[in-house]
Order: sequence, then C-alpha cells, then structure tokens
Amino acid sequence: MLNGEKMLFSGMQATGRLTIGNYLGALKNWVTLSDEYTCLFCVVDEHSITVRQDPATLRQRARKLLTLYIAAGLDPEKNIIYYQSHVPAHAELAWILNCFTYIGELSRMTQFKDKSAKHEDNINAGLFTYPVLMASDILLYQTDVVPVGHDQLQHLELTRDIAIRFNNIYGEVFTVPEAYIGKVGARIQSLQDPAKKMSKSDENENASIYLDDDRDTIIRKFKRAITDNEACVRFSDEQPAIKNLISIYSAVTGKSPADVEREFEGKGYGEFKLAVGESVADLLAPIQKRQAELLADKDYVDGIIKNNADHASYLAMKTLRKVQKKLGFPERPR
Ligand code: TRP
Repeated sequence: MLNGEKMLFSGMQATGRLTIGNYLGALKNWVTLSDEYTCLFCVVDEHSITVRQDPATLRQRARKLLTLYIAAGLDPEKNIIYYQSHVPAHAELAWILNCFTYIGELSRMTQFKDKSAKHEDNINAGLFTYPVLMASDILLYQTDVVPVGHDQLQHLELTRDIAIRFNNIYGEVFTVPEAYIGKVGARIQSLQDPAKKMSKSDENENASIYLDDDRDTIIRKFKRAITDNEACVRFSDEQPAIKNLISIYSAVTGKSPADVEREFEGKGYGEFKLAVGESVADLLAPIQKRQAELLADKDYVDGIIKNNADHASYLAMKTLRKVQKKLGFPERPR
C-alpha cells in the first residue's frame, strides 16, 4: 500500500497561475510529508466553479496543476493524485453534510464574505456552501492531517465541528482531522508590496513569480523587486521587502536567515537580488522541464489519472456507504 498508516489530504484550485508562494508554502511541504503519510492530493475542480470559469481554460489549468504535483516530486504511484470531479462521492457527501451545517456557521466564514464582496454579481449558493464541499473532501478519506495555509484554517475548524457533530449523533463515523501548518517559507509576500501576500491574482505581473515564468522573467522581476534605503541585507521587520527576499532565498537554498545576512554582508541589493533570482530560476527549471515532459506524454498521464481516480473512489465509497447506512438510507439489494 502507500507510505504511512495515517491519512493526509490536501488540494489546490486550478484557477490562476500558481506562484512560488504556492510551491514554497505548500507543494514543497507536501513532498516532504508524503514520505510519512498515505496521501491524497486533489485538484479541486468542483470548488473552482463557485466562480465563473472558461471551460477550456479550466480544463487546461487542471491538467497543468495535476502534472505540476507530479513534477514537483509527488510520486503518483505512492500518492493518490486525482481530480475531485472524477470521484462523485465528494459531491454526494457534501449534500449530506449540508444537512449538518448551519447557515449561521457558513455566514461567519471570512472567505465567503471576501469572495461575495469581490463577485457581487454572482453570490451563488455554491460559494456559500464551499466549506461543506471541502469538509466532504477531507472526511471522505478518514483524514488525519490536512496541510493548509492560514486562510483555510477557519474552513478546517468547521470541518472538525461537522465531523464531531455527526459522530455525536451516529457514533464514530469520521476521523476528526488536524491542521498541519508548514514551519518554513510559508509566507511569501508580493515583490512589489511586502505588506501583501504574493498572489496568483495580483494585477501587477511584477508582484508575483509564477511557476511557469522563464529564467529571464524571474531574474527581471527580482531585479525590479522593491527594496528600501537601508542598503543592508538584514532580516528585520523594519525592512519588510528585504525580509521577504531573504525568506524566499532561505526557503529555496535551505540557508538560515542569519547565514544569508552573513553571505551578503557589505554587498549591494543588486547583487543580492540577482542571487535570489538565480536561485529561484535554478529551483524551477527542473520542475518546469519535468512538467513539460508529462504534458507531452498523454498516455502515461491518462493512465495515472485513471488509476488514481479508481483508488480514490474505492476509499471514498467505503466512507460514503457507511454514512448512508447510518442515516437510514435503504440498503442496496445484492
Ligand atoms: N479551499 C482550499 C483552497 O482554496 C482548497 C481545498 C479544497 C482544500 N478542498 C480541500 C484544501 C481539502 C485542503 C483540504 O486553498
């Protein structure tokens, strides 16, 4: 079977172009964790349609994300890498869990408030029940740990509440999951405004390093990254832009911030920014190469998609059947 006894589940949306923040803050940790746990890494395409998507773009981005998981080092023979929409049990359990979630709880979700402010013309019910689908993703696999960013902690807390509520009524049906917050490199800020998180939807192209940026673009963006007038590479809250660049360089090279300060003592920002840019370009080059190979190898990737969806479905159905039985849905005659 897979790597460990405990189950780990995580997922990303295939909307927007992923940034090094997504890699350093999430994917890289997944690769490390995958040695220790039995892991499901999902491309959560059903979550994406809470906001209108262009079908061709969504399809293309979903495939790119799935191949990125593999290119980043997640072995598709040892981890279950799949599309949410290929496993109908997600949506089915989500319906059931909707009946165990209160409108008051969902109304308190800050992501719902933010997204409905941003998409005022399309505040659909899916946007509102988004966290219930996420709970179903997690609970279907009896997940023990869920690596998530800070922005998803509230959703995870709700998932736990739903699981506990259901278990209180029907007995031990769901494992109550724990959040896993990465230790290092988790927070990468914008290169143009260190007060903002680096985002896949920033209007300013220069603010984010995308995982598919080429070497010249990466180096150019770091050259243009804002700094300050201190002229000193120091890891301090008084120099947030430099601090962010040091964090990136540390996360990429594994050097501690103190080592980085020492390395660039007495050196200018130009030299420092070039070193950061080159380290990021060097990090991404093999991932991009592997991803391009995978995108070109249709049969191999299709095989993986099929096998992994079958495996995920098998696990998901075990939980779904149990839930249906507990609820009193009629048994299927054999
Ligand atoms: N909502 C998460 C995000 O936007 C993605 C997600 C969906 C997820 N289902 C999940 C993350 C289950 C962890 C576990 O980042």
